Amino acid sequence: MHLGLSATYVLSLVTGALAIPSQQLVARQQPFTSTAITTHAEPWAFAFLPDNRILVTERRGNLRLVDPATKSMGAITGVPSVAYSGQGGLHDVALHPQYANNSVVYISYAESGTGGAGCALARAKLTLSANNAGALSGLEVIWRHSQRASGGLQYACRLLFGPDGALWVSAGEINQMTPAQSLTNNLGKIVRLYDNGTAFAGNPFASQGAIQSQIWSLGHRNPLGIDWDAQGRLWEVEMGPMGGDELNLIESGKNYGWPLVCEGKHYNGTTIPKHSTRPDFGAPKAFWVPVISPAGLIIYKGDLFSSWKGNAIITGLSSQSIVRVAITGDTAKEAQRISMGKRMRGIREDKEGAIWVIEDGANGRLLKLTPT
Ligand SMILES: *[C@@H]1O[C@H](CO)[C@@H](O)[C@H](O)[C@H]1NC(C)=O
Ligand SMILES: *[C@@H]1O[C@H](CO)[C@@H](O)[C@H](O)[C@H]1NC(C)=O
Ligand SMILES: *[C@@H]1O[C@H](CO)[C@@H](O)[C@H](O)[C@H]1NC(C)=O
Repeated sequence: MHLGLSATYVLSLVTGALAIPSQQLVARQQPFTSTAITTHAEPWAFAFLPDNRILVTERRGNLRLVDPATKSMGAITGVPSVAYSGQGGLHDVALHPQYANNSVVYISYAESGTGGAGCALARAKLTLSANNAGALSGLEVIWRHSQRASGGLQYACRLLFGPDGALWVSAGEINQMTPAQSLTNNLGKIVRLYDNGTAFAGNPFASQGAIQSQIWSLGHRNPLGIDWDAQGRLWEVEMGPMGGDELNLIESGKNYGWPLVCEGKHYNGTTIPKHSTRPDFGAPKAFWVPVISPAGLIIYKGDLFSSWKGNAIITGLSSQSIVRVAITGDTAKEAQRISMGKRMRGIREDKEGAIWVIEDGANGRLLKLTPT
């Protein structure tokens, strides 16, 4: 299954960088070619295998293996049943840092149970066979949301291994709001775990109890993207309600304020105090009113898009765009918004520095972006 489409995107004008000389501006607006590889039913995330093939999650619970060389794909069996409802289903996929030796992969997904659904994180061994087929075996749930909710909203649960070997999980607040402020649950938190799901030593609230010991930061709403920069700092994007999407620099023990402060409003129009009213909370380095609906994030580290090195590259759902944010020290500013004409869901960078994105929805295409 493939679409052989190729399109060169002509990039729109930078609004936030008028001080940059025009020659430099042209260089930074790196034009690129987009090559469609495969088409998926409601894809959510993807991860590269060492042999350049790509695991793609589809929200109903299908895990695919794509070979970009032939634009073909097969199915990986053994994914547990997922709570496909609202925003929930099969979410992220990540490889163990020693995957080449242990074949261990991680998946996050919405899981049904008493009281509704919550996010589960499982690890399993991946065995590959011919024609891009394969199977998960020995699947073991190693972490869960500590409570469940109906409605199927704001699970997030992006997975990322850090430079320290820790497994980072961005846990949404499943639309429960106030639990994001409490250390007695793991909703609306970024948690730092060992590869077996237990709390990593040295987490900031470790002395306060078992759940508390998982927590790295709190006060998050729908944290759909996390990535490292070259200095080893963790950045995060989260969706606000009506307005107030955020790009945050994540620090140990910090409270980012949801739902007590936000640059947006509740959907019923009720105002929320702004971050400026509570300087004790971590304020976003960039925010969006109206929203972009950030669904994925990389901090670009490659050489192919050399003028984008160190920038945050964010996929946007409602904005149907890729948003590039320049980071200088600990400040961040939108530098470019690239219209993609589709809701953009996931983003990753490959080892050559090409940027891959995946569209949202019924016929979401996996696209490889390379400089023109
Ligand atoms: C796999 O194991 C070999 C031998 O122990 C080691 O040299 C190599 O670094 C390991 N690879 C990874 C990706 O951990
Ligand atoms: C999980 O991994 C950590 C670090 O390797 C280890 O100290 C701990 O004993 C492990 N826990 C379990 C339950 O296996
Ligand atoms: C508006 O929505 C917020 C968040 O759900 C809720 O706390 C608040 O009570 C609502 N206000 C009104 C007037 O309905």
